[in-house]
Amino acid sequence: MNTDAIATEHAARLSAADSLLPLSEPLDNTGEDTVLEVRKDDSGAIGLATRSEIAADFSDSLWRALIEHRLTLRLAGPQPGEVLGDLLALWNSHLAEVAAPGDWDTAAVVVRPSRDPAGSAELLRHGFAPVRVLAVRPADRLAAPGPAAEPGVRIRPAGQDDIDTAVRLHTELLRYDADFGGVSPRETAAELLAADVGKELTRTNPTLWIAELYGGPLGLLQIQLPPESDWARRYVRAERVGYLSTLHVAEAARSSGVGSALAAHAHQLFDEAGTDVVLLHHALANPRSTPFWCAQGYRPLWTYWQRRPAVPAASL
Ligand SMILES: CC(C)(COP(=O)(O)OP(=O)(O)OC[C@H]1O[C@@H](n2cnc3c(N)ncnc32)[C@H](O)[C@@H]1OP(=O)(O)O)[C@@H](O)C(=O)NCCC(=O)NCCS
Repeated sequence: MNTDAIATEHAARLSAADSLLPLSEPLDNTGEDTVLEVRKDDSGAIGLATRSEIAADFSDSLWRALIEHRLTLRLAGPQPGEVLGDLLALWNSHLAEVAAPGDWDTAAVVVRPSRDPAGSAELLRHGFAPVRVLAVRPADRLAAPGPAAEPGVRIRPAGQDDIDTAVRLHTELLRYDADFGGVSPRETAAELLAADVGKELTRTNPTLWIAELYGGPLGLLQIQLPPESDWARRYVRAERVGYLSTLHVAEAARSSGVGSALAAHAHQLFDEAGTDVVLLHHALANPRSTPFWCAQGYRPLWTYWQRRPAVPAASL
């Protein structure tokens, strides 16, 4: 089975599995990234091993390891799990040469289409966990009506006086989500978040919203509309894509309809902007966000399998 045949079969399988996935193209192996290949009987796996690094003074560093190794896959044939297992073993050898064992600020990440579970057992066997999903909600998705909103909930755009509130709510979200694998707590978090919120507040169209319950600010919503959210188009088969960056409700106000009211507000803004789908990331093991987003009409599109550190510390 040659490289083109693997890419073609991979693309056909993904299209059949999920009509919202973008068309899968052959891997671009013209750069300096490492290409790994395994062929066995009628099955084949190709992986492109890449490395990205960001500085700790970027706010994205709160949501990832500073150094991230990724393996982008194409799988084909009747034994995709077996060839993926061999490919992961090849990647492990490669990682052993390029990543420091036991370094917490490194991660190995494989992003898989959620509805193409081929090889999931092999990922588990190699120490990966499904940590986060990119979830999708088509604009015409009918969601079950949520809980009745508290009568005192009011949603308003955030203003300059809300920087401290927004940073506090963002920080609570990071703390809560940190237990589920997708967050990198850093000492500079408050500064990074304040800088981001400050930038957000300079926009003419509000993207940051506060929910108040009887005058107390208890909920935070942040969204990206096209064209700002156009970066997300490569993950989904849709023209106009919105991205919901943040939703958080203070602990004292949870389970009383504030989150549903903020989500309904976001969906109204996305509808007004004519988006076909909305995407958002959430931690799979988060016992609040996973059921909440399902009830709001979202379902997994891409699953992020992560092993952190990328290379485990050597055992004594
Ligand atoms: C996830 C989160 C934003 C939800 O906000 P919330 O204000 O608690 O949500 P709501 O009260 O509007 O909705 C949740 C409740 O409504 C119920 N509900 C949801 N849809 C419903 C429906 N269709 N019919 C009846 N009840 C429904 C849920 O069962 C839940 O109640 P429960 O907690 O008693 O089980 C909030 O819990 C939170 O901030 N969690 C911590 C941080 C976090 O995980 N943020 C999301 C990161 S992506």
